[in-house]
Amino acid sequence: MLRSKPLEVFETYDEGMTAPSIAILGAGSMGGAILRGVVASGLPTRSLIVTNRTPQKAAELTGLAGVTSVALADNPRGNHDAVADADIVLIGVKPVMVADLLRDIASSLKPGAIVVSLAAGTTLATMAAAAGEGVKIVRAMPNTPAIVRKAVTGLAANAQCTPADIAAVSAVFEAVGTVIKTDEDGIDRLSTISGSGPAYVYLLIEQLTQAALHQGFALKDARVMAEQTFIGAAALLDATGDDPAELRRRVTSPKGTTEQAIFVMQDAGLDAMFITATNAALARARELAAGA
Ligand SMILES: NC(=O)c1ccc[n+]([C@@H]2O[C@H](COP(=O)([O-])OP(=O)(O)OC[C@H]3O[C@@H](n4cnc5c(N)ncnc54)[C@H](OP(=O)(O)O)[C@@H]3O)[C@@H](O)[C@H]2O)c1
Repeated sequence: MLRSKPLEVFETYDEGMTAPSIAILGAGSMGGAILRGVVASGLPTRSLIVTNRTPQKAAELTGLAGVTSVALADNPRGNHDAVADADIVLIGVKPVMVADLLRDIASSLKPGAIVVSLAAGTTLATMAAAAGEGVKIVRAMPNTPAIVRKAVTGLAANAQCTPADIAAVSAVFEAVGTVIKTDEDGIDRLSTISGSGPAYVYLLIEQLTQAALHQGFALKDARVMAEQTFIGAAALLDATGDDPAELRRRVTSPKGTTEQAIFVMQDAGLDAMFITATNAALARARELAAGA
C-alpha cells in the first residue's frame, strides 16, 4: 500500500526513490518510537509490518494506520513472514538477542534487503557473521527523544550498502529527527554524546532542582524552575539557531550574578569533566563491542 505523500519534506527522500517495505522486528521502546514516527510523518511505504513476542505488545501497535502488528506467540513464523518481502529490516530487540535473531531469519531475507540494527555495542562484523557476509547492514544509534520526533540518529553502513541504500535508511530515521552519517567508530563516539546525552541533560536538571531546593523553594516550584529553564533555553536555541555561547553571553553581564556562577562552574573543571565522562562511556562501548 502506498500512503499519501507526507506534509513534511524528507531531506534524503527523493521522488525517484521507491517506497520501501519495512519490517521492524522488536518494536518496544525504541523500535516502537521509530514506528510511530514513521507513521506520523507519512513516509511513503509499501508495507509496514512489526513483530513482538507477546500479544500485549503487539496489541499496542495494532491501531496504527497502515501497520500490521504480529505477536510471535500467535505466529511463531512471524519474523520470517515479516522479512520475506521487506526492503528494510529494522532490528529493535535487546543487543544480546541480535545475533541469534539474525541467524534465525537469514534464510528468509529478501535478496538486497538492508538490515538496520538499533543495538548498542553489536558490531557490523558480528551481524554480518550472523546474517551472511554479503548482507547489507547498517548500525543506527538513535536516542530517546525519538519518541517526540526529536532524535539524533547516527548511521554507519557496511561496504555492501550503496548511497541509495543509505538514503533510504536515512529517510526512515529523519521521520523521528535528525540524522548524522558516520563510520562504525563514529557510532561508538556519537553514542557518548547524543546516545547517552539525554541522561546527562536529565542529571543536570536534577542537580539544578537540588540547588533550587537548597535556595529554599518547595519541590513543586523547584522542579518548574529547573525543568522549564532547560525546556525554554533549548526552545530558544532551536528557534534562533544562534551559537549557544552567544546565547549564554546574553545572559551573562560583566560583573553580574550569572558571571559569578559561571566562574564557579568553570573553576570546577566542567570542560574537563565532560571530556572525561564521554571518554569513560567510549571505553565501555568498546568493551561491550569486544564482548566484555
Ligand atoms: N532505549 C534507548 O534509549 C535506546 C537507544 C538507542 C538504541 N537502543 C537499542 O534499541 C534496542 C531495543 O531497546 P528497547 O529499549 O527498545 O527495548 P525494549 O523496549 O525491551 O524492546 C524490545 C522489543 O523486542 C521484542 N522482542 C524480543 N524478542 C523478539 C523477537 N525474537 N522477535 C521480535 N521481537 C522481539 C520485545 O517484545 P516483548 O516485550 O513482547 O517480548 C520488545 O517489545 C536495543 O538493542 C537497544 O540497544 C535503545
